[in-house]
Amino acid sequence: MPRYADSDKEKLREAVDIVDLISKRTELRRSGPGQYKGLCPFHEERSPSFSVDAHKGVYHCFGCGVGGDAFKFVQETEGLDFIGAMESLAQRVGIELTVEDEDPRAAEKRKARERLLELLERATGFYERYLWESQEAAPARAYLVDRGFTEETLRTFRVGYAPSAWDKLLMAGRAGGYGNREIFDAGLAVKSNRGQGRIYDRFRRRIMFPLADARGRVLGFGARALGADQKPKYLNSNDGEIFHKGEIVYGAHLARSAAARADEVIATEGYMDVLALHQAGIVNVVCIMGTSLTERQVGELAKLGKTVLLALDADSAGQEAMLKAAKVAARSKLALRVVPLPVGLDPADVVQQRGVEAAAEFFQHSVPFVRFQVDRELERGDLTDAEGKDKVIAALRPVFATLPPSALREELVDVVTAGVALDRAKVSSWLSMPVEEEDAPAAAPAAVQQSAPPQRQPYGGGRNGGGGGWQPRRSFEPDVGPARRKGSQVAQAERAFLAQCVVTPSLARDLLPKLDKATFSSEFMGRLATHLEGNLEEPTANIDEGDDLLRNAVSGLIADSAGLTNSPTVLRRELALVELKRLERDHRAAIAASDGNAAGLRVKVDAAKQRWEELVSQSLEEAA
Ligand code: CTP
Ligand code: MN
Repeated sequence: MPRYADSDKEKLREAVDIVDLISKRTELRRSGPGQYKGLCPFHEERSPSFSVDAHKGVYHCFGCGVGGDAFKFVQETEGLDFIGAMESLAQRVGIELTVEDEDPRAAEKRKARERLLELLERATGFYERYLWESQEAAPARAYLVDRGFTEETLRTFRVGYAPSAWDKLLMAGRAGGYGNREIFDAGLAVKSNRGQGRIYDRFRRRIMFPLADARGRVLGFGARALGADQKPKYLNSNDGEIFHKGEIVYGAHLARSAAARADEVIATEGYMDVLALHQAGIVNVVCIMGTSLTERQVGELAKLGKTVLLALDADSAGQEAMLKAAKVAARSKLALRVVPLPVGLDPADVVQQRGVEAAAEFFQHSVPFVRFQVDRELERGDLTDAEGKDKVIAALRPVFATLPPSALREELVDVVTAGVALDRAKVSSWLSMPVEEEDAPAAAPAAVQQSAPPQRQPYGGGRNGGGGGWQPRRSFEPDVGPARRKGSQVAQAERAFLAQCVVTPSLARDLLPKLDKATFSSEFMGRLATHLEGNLEEPTANIDEGDDLLRNAVSGLIADSAGLTNSPTVLRRELALVELKRLERDHRAAIAASDGNAAGLRVKVDAAKQRWEELVSQSLEEAA
């Protein structure tokens, strides 16, 4: 780490116009001689409580209490240490910093590094120009337009194109005065097998995503194949002198200020997701570049915001990444939430196929990480027999042990109860059994089969707090993929429908009697629906004295319905989802039984899915 002369610091302070610097982040208005006011770039506000004193060179926010000088501002807004802030400001105003007491070897290394960074910067410009100006890049431009990206977005992210020839970048680099060794060290070239120190362009016929550090300095590239013949789909810079994939999250420098304001950052898997969401106006977004999340990357996420919304694929790799994130997050103060995505769709697909509003809707329905864990165990478990249910409950005990008594905890007990379709009081006490170190899920006692519930144990302490607050559960069920899921997703859809019946009784009175109760996934759900049908005015009425199961389920529905509004479209939508789920189950069963009904059911599934999707759009329109 270089040490800069103290006089440089004062020189910089003189040279930097703090009003100009801050104006890049928020609009400032003059409020007096040398005084400026504006909306605070560090917190969300409607009326300006942020002020800048041009003479003193300082800023202060009366709303959130932040304040400091130009260095502090750059540190905070660009996520840098003091040295980094000095470098960033020096670059901005064009002052060369003098390094003090540097031994010659270190000086040489630093200069070599600076040259590589400069080369990477030039390469970025080269690829950008190629994308916009060359004939060869026409298919790449068409591809990007087809993916829905505007020129503005592509320019913001400095997307480029690497030509297909073997040496275009090499030639440009040499013409710029760089040697083979430097071009290689910057990760822009690979060595030829033929030896003799020959090198050629690493990136060819690819769409180039510059990968920058928190300050926006390009360290490497992620390069997407254009043709199906090209493998791999993404070729990244290899780890070397400058680039270390595990140390950065993509898009951090562009997400930073929005993330700081919201104190929340969205972590997606891929470059396309970041561009698509950014363009959709969701700017506090980065990607972890695949699924092998590192601790360093979790650290980078934590620098961007206190809450991280994980919007990773619903596939198993994405789920593993989420579990890993949770492990790391448990050691920090990070609150993790999960954005439930439809199976098989990433955020970029959601934006493209369903539109901007639908995407925003998904992000509003993030759930605390613990909720995701509960759903996951319920989905993976075999809930058809006692043993399977038992395993699920045993696997969930460590999760519940981290949860202090709270509304969230009770809500989750409800979710498990609905998922395993057992008595709530028993489920609750089983989940509260203490977890011992060696308590492997499979080796847990056969809790479900025990006739007497075990002694209720005190709750475990809130070790990692469970992450974030709890929002009222919504009924929107973003699961349209090929239904590989069972148990809880279906049960949730059914519950959501019945909860919506409670708040939309006028239409429910028509719909419920016509609905074949065998549509539901369990006899109990059918019974619950029948009860509701007869008691829409007062759902808690007419429940038998000893029928705790029904009473609990009904109060659960009433609790669920608290956040819902009376909307016939939403009720139709929820019903359509329940029917879709039924058809999907029948379809799978028909395939399994090879009874010749599968093709006919496939058609019905498609029609049901279409109907549901239409209702989703319609309800979104109505909500907007
Ligand atoms: N990735 C990678 N190397 C690969 C494949 C993927 O580094 N061989 C990273 C990239 O950062 C990519 C992310 O993993 O953006 C997610 O991969 P994937 O879902 O396959 O790609 P998408 O981003 O969805 O890209 P597209 O929509 O163009 O298929
Ligand atoms: Mn994609």
